[in-house]
Amino acid sequence: MAEVIEEKLSIHTQKVEKSRLPEVDFENLPFGRVFSDHMFIADYKDSKWSDLRIVPYNNISFSPAMSTLHYAQSIFEGLKAYKRTDGSVWLFRPEDNFKRMNISADRMCMPAIPREAFMDGLLELIRLDQGWVPGQEGSTLYVRPFMFAADDFIGVRPADTYKFMIFTCPVASYYSEPVRVRIETDYTRAARGGVGYAKTAGNYAASLYAARKAQQEGYHQVIWTDGAEHKYIEESGTMNLFFKIDGTLITASLGDSVLDGITRKSIIQLAKDFGQPVEERRISVAEIAQALKEGRVEEAFGAGTAAVVSSVKTIGHEGVDYDLPPMVEGTFAYKAKETLYKIRLGEAPDTHNWMVRVN
Ligand code: COI
Repeated sequence: MAEVIEEKLSIHTQKVEKSRLPEVDFENLPFGRVFSDHMFIADYKDSKWSDLRIVPYNNISFSPAMSTLHYAQSIFEGLKAYKRTDGSVWLFRPEDNFKRMNISADRMCMPAIPREAFMDGLLELIRLDQGWVPGQEGSTLYVRPFMFAADDFIGVRPADTYKFMIFTCPVASYYSEPVRVRIETDYTRAARGGVGYAKTAGNYAASLYAARKAQQEGYHQVIWTDGAEHKYIEESGTMNLFFKIDGTLITASLGDSVLDGITRKSIIQLAKDFGQPVEERRISVAEIAQALKEGRVEEAFGAGTAAVVSSVKTIGHEGVDYDLPPMVEGTFAYKAKETLYKIRLGEAPDTHNWMVRVN
């Protein structure tokens, strides 16, 4: 990773002449197709970040030889901003996104983004576009920070120039219904020693083929298993997974092929707060299959920024579909989702200081 020269960074802002806000139907928001008025950009060249700016959201132009298009030095984050009834806007655990972004940057031989560029860019952008944070129940402002290589060069090596950008989009839920997932034992998302833990574009590209096959079979997503033997459960590509079996909540332990999800670790913390036994460990496919056959999987759900807490309705394995109980009041998943929702809206105490006020 190139050395980053730190110097005082200030942000220049150019506002839109006319907001697109009146055109947005906040009652019918899709996921990821409506973009707020402004975006944040910073450029990296000569070993330093400079030219921090907020500009109207617009297309960007680049050379056909731009290195990202060919060799995928591209990383991103996802977080959300919430509007409370008093009009205040809050972010959930942005510091964790900042740290994870730099872990991804390191793995992909990209420069670290300085804290002030990430956090100040984020806060100023959302402050400026705070009118875009939905107030409707279940809708939020999804925030997408990302960084990509910007060299006009097709030699294979880490680039010398990068762009860091943030845009935001008002969104409703990623999954509009409980999900059907299938345990994937043929294709591989991430391998030991690979980049699975980094939030890098290629991981998502690698997941598409198997996900499409699963979708053709009537599932929403696959449950990825380890790349070496396909014997251990990893994650679901859009979210980390939790199972409650015989009263204990379990989730796959982290390693170099599982994303260190921020919702995942929040759920683990909430389980501890609730006195719910929770284990982070290797989970074999055989163990899950046995528990499914014996009807001992009391709950299964996915956890992610976009997915929030998404109930798993069905798990497919070796041609058999196992239906699971719904996420209703009294289940752990329901309580965790409600608690996260209340903490975000200021209706439950934020005992772990997860929320950061924007405006
Ligand atoms: C997120 O949850 O923020 C993600 O990056 C997952 C993506 C599939 C939307």
